[in-house]
Amino acid sequence: MARYAAITGTGSYVPDKILTNFALEKMVNTSDEWIRQRTGIVERRIADEDMATSDLGIRAARQAIKMAEIDPLDIDMIIVGTVTPDALFPSTACYVQKGIGAKKAAAFDLSAACAGFIYGLDLADGMIKSGRYDTILVIGGEIFNKILDWSDRGTCVLFGDGAGAAILQGTDEPKGILSSYIGSDGDYSDVNLLGMPAGGSRMPPSHETIDQKLHTIKMRGREVFKLGVRIMPEAAQHALNLAGLTVDDIDLLIPHQANMRIIEAVGDRLGIPREKVFVNVDKYGNTSAATTIIALDEAIREERAKPGDLVLMVTFGAGLTWGSTVIRL
Ligand code: UT7
Repeated sequence: MARYAAITGTGSYVPDKILTNFALEKMVNTSDEWIRQRTGIVERRIADEDMATSDLGIRAARQAIKMAEIDPLDIDMIIVGTVTPDALFPSTACYVQKGIGAKKAAAFDLSAACAGFIYGLDLADGMIKSGRYDTILVIGGEIFNKILDWSDRGTCVLFGDGAGAAILQGTDEPKGILSSYIGSDGDYSDVNLLGMPAGGSRMPPSHETIDQKLHTIKMRGREVFKLGVRIMPEAAQHALNLAGLTVDDIDLLIPHQANMRIIEAVGDRLGIPREKVFVNVDKYGNTSAATTIIALDEAIREERAKPGDLVLMVTFGAGLTWGSTVIRL
């Protein structure tokens, strides 16, 4: 009998502190009007200085565990998609394991930038289908505010902090992940296209890297924009094909929340009406690996996505990486 990975619980957490566009006007040469028009972002959340990504992930995971009605000891594996881990090592996933008391779980981080959560889902799906694991916690979480250059208006207005979590469990019912597709193209791995140059083995921390602000995000926004608009519809269509479905079957599209103009372009290119496209980039900005799972959790809790609905999720990020999935809730 075919085995499926059902999503039995979701959760999300964003910090309380809100940073509005108007507050940013006082920090950098920008305007609320520019940010709204070019990105759709109105405000974003900022984690406290003493918070790390695992602190957000733990809060999101607890909600997902509650919704799934499982014991943390039932969790076999924890995957955390993040590019802002608590430390380079040990993994953020191990801190989450401790925080939620999932003592029987294997735990590791996954680096696929904004595609981290959907990469994690794909992996979890395969692990569950293999029969070796039954219950997997997948988290996408980031604290971007600590790696932003707050003097670079081209990036600091775009990102925010947050985390989302999903519990996947094996089932014989044809639900959960119906199809999943991930890909990458290292030809676009230029760290200045989208990335953080220093802090790794290529450019370890030094006084120079700090003076030159190389521990912060660099991005050539316009190029990344074009790539997103091209890659996400292709990836979404691929996941639909794999599932043997068409856009007309889809109840809700959840695209990566980076920019309202990209979101609209992806929906339009796929031919999905605007009312079926989930948007929360206005509230949170781009939370990288967390955007799609925070959105899915909100969609479920707001009943925009109900049991039995078909949800199409698609994302892209640094690397380049991309991923898409069709889920029956
Ligand atoms: O998770 C994936 C990662 N990232 C993305 O998906 C982001 C993709 N890119 C984007 O969202 C857009 O390219 C941006 C929002 C970053 C920029 O929008 P754009 O329409 O591509 O603007 P642009 O970079 O072409 O810049 C237009 C103008 C420039 O001024 P000049 O050269 O025309 O005088 C910029 O200097 O806007 C200026 N500008 C700003 N002005 C006010 C750039 N950032 C700002 C700002 N406030 N924050």
